[in-house]
Amino acid sequence: MSMKKIIAVAAATVMTIGLAACSSDAAGTGGGSEGSVGISMPTRSLERWINDGEGLKAQLEDAGYSADLQYADDKADTQISQIQNQIASGVDVLVIAAIDGELLAPVLADAKAQDIAVISYDRLINGTPDVDYYATFDNYKVGQLQGEFIEEQLGLADGAGPFNLEPFAGSPDDNNAKFFFSGAWDVLLPYVENGQLVVPSGKAPASNDDWASIGILGWKSDSAQSELDNRLGSFYTGGEKIDVVLSPNDSLAQGIAASLRSAGYTAGTDWPLLTGQDADKASVVNILAGEQSMTVWKDTRELGNVVFGFIEAIMAGEEPEINDTETYDNGEKVVPAFLIAPEVVVKDDVQSKLIDSGFIQASDVGL
Ligand code: BGC
Repeated sequence: MSMKKIIAVAAATVMTIGLAACSSDAAGTGGGSEGSVGISMPTRSLERWINDGEGLKAQLEDAGYSADLQYADDKADTQISQIQNQIASGVDVLVIAAIDGELLAPVLADAKAQDIAVISYDRLINGTPDVDYYATFDNYKVGQLQGEFIEEQLGLADGAGPFNLEPFAGSPDDNNAKFFFSGAWDVLLPYVENGQLVVPSGKAPASNDDWASIGILGWKSDSAQSELDNRLGSFYTGGEKIDVVLSPNDSLAQGIAASLRSAGYTAGTDWPLLTGQDADKASVVNILAGEQSMTVWKDTRELGNVVFGFIEAIMAGEEPEINDTETYDNGEKVVPAFLIAPEVVVKDDVQSKLIDSGFIQASDVGL
């Protein structure tokens, strides 16, 4: 953020505080008197983004900001026009979870020209100097936790195997997906190379850089389901069984579980290990039913708190707190980031971690 913006924002903040008594619409976009924020989220089709968007909007409004929340139905061009509208409406800060992190440079150049601060939310925005801060979970760690879970459950470090593995990766247009895959593959690839893990479909990237060859575009459950249907139909025709599926997130894991179910796998008998991420309610139900082995839980309320802290600092003309200045090079700059630690949730943790913390309600998952 430029010094000019800091001073301008600080002055505007003082002014809006002064005006607050006589106007409830001092920030320009209606509602908040402390400043206005445009929030741009990818899709309502995945539970986590609904929690992310609505949680942050409520927190901002409670603190006196106005917040415009938009969902773009996973369409990059829709997201760009929604951001253009937010710029035109005079927001002070943009919070963006990018659909395609490569396509936002031009619209962010417009934002910068208007001195709007830009926060990259959860997913890094690439190829532009016009992104100021990045708040996310430690994405490499997410994959590492999945890989280590598989390593431990199968006893790979003790030499057990061979086991049949089918790996999946996330959407090729999502910058996070390569971090998830690298974290997992750094743990698992050595076991593929030494034969303790066998990939009957052959869909085993030879290196982390080849991850997109098994990426599921748009993180779609249906596409993951048909991909596994195809692998099962082509490579498991002689009675072979899958022992483990590496799934980067819950939306894929739900499609994978559907495919396993229709192929006749049964929880508690031959159901394979299956990883996930997000603690989506549908996946927590599957975890309780023994149809998903774990999820990597990212408490989106914590991410909201970090971003809220960024916004408070930006509005006050201060530097937000960051804890990573090395990992997230977007091709134009290393974006100052705050990384939050993710954690593993298995069946036995559902009550203590997810329900007791209020992240989900017992009734949401049939408890
Ligand atoms: C997020 C995941 C999510 C995935 C699909 C990723 O960028 O980090 O939490 O499961 O997108 O929406």
